[in-house]
Amino acid sequence: MDSCLIFSGNSNYQLAEKIAKYLNKELSPINIYRFKDGEICVKIEANIRGKDVFIIQSTCPPVNENLMELLIILDALKRASPRRITAVIPYYGYARQDRKDQPRVPITAKLVANILVTAGADRILTMDLHAPQIQGFFDIPVDHLFAAPVMIKYLREKKFKKPVIVAPDVGSVKMARAFAKRLPAELAIVDKRRDAPDKVEMIHVIGDVKNCEAIIVDDIISTGNTMIEAAQALIKNGATQVYGSCTHAVLAENTIEKFKNSLFSEVIITDTIPHSNLPSIFTILTVSELLGEAIKRIHLEDTVSSLFI
Ligand code: R5P
Repeated sequence: MDSCLIFSGNSNYQLAEKIAKYLNKELSPINIYRFKDGEICVKIEANIRGKDVFIIQSTCPPVNENLMELLIILDALKRASPRRITAVIPYYGYARQDRKDQPRVPITAKLVANILVTAGADRILTMDLHAPQIQGFFDIPVDHLFAAPVMIKYLREKKFKKPVIVAPDVGSVKMARAFAKRLPAELAIVDKRRDAPDKVEMIHVIGDVKNCEAIIVDDIISTGNTMIEAAQALIKNGATQVYGSCTHAVLAENTIEKFKNSLFSEVIITDTIPHSNLPSIFTILTVSELLGEAIKRIHLEDTVSSLFI
């Protein structure tokens, strides 16, 4: 691993440090600073000529700041002649606008893919993309990991009596089905309708959740409305307890407060987005080993497919 260098942006330094520790490496030095007018400047403080370079940065809130920082780091890296640059993006922001679902709207997931490549990324390592087909927005290799192995291991230890995995909307069914198969558990779906962006109206629960421990799985918690209203519907339909399992805890606005006052027994999230001092209802699992192992295998030109299981 000597010819492999790992850098981190400012968005999730804690996770980057854990990944480096897993790999028995130090993060390589980089100076990221702001000019007086707020513009970002970067200086790579290590020789990377001919090296295999990884830059870890989640594009979580503040999204534009973190994305721009990543682009500028990529540009600085590219101009320092490395052999290859892999952008490790544990949380890929702007992913939810992945198609034109109404006239005259952007496809930001594709726009971000384009600018990452223009800035200098040769390959991407990411996790639980909002839609797996976002991989196809890149014409460079993308390794797309799932947090499921980490989540399922934890959920199994809870030894649920009658678990049912719940997809809080149709978009999450595939993810939920994978969880249900592997836990194992039954599957249910909450039929969710949105009146307007960030507003949710629950219609009904498809599947039997009566006397079950319901585990809602989703890729993102932003306002929390999807999960919280799904939990209400599940309790109304006879679930004894409700758990949440979500890879990317964006936790926008007053979402943390909302969960404190919710019907959830526990909400399990990962550290793709950094959080500190969360209330005890949240359990944070680390995906550092998964990402670290993927980095190792990419560097050693080894297969990463066994990490998907
Ligand atoms: C939707 O398609 C996603 O999978 C999540 O359900 C959604 O992004 C969650 O958003 P919020 O927490 O704002 O309801």
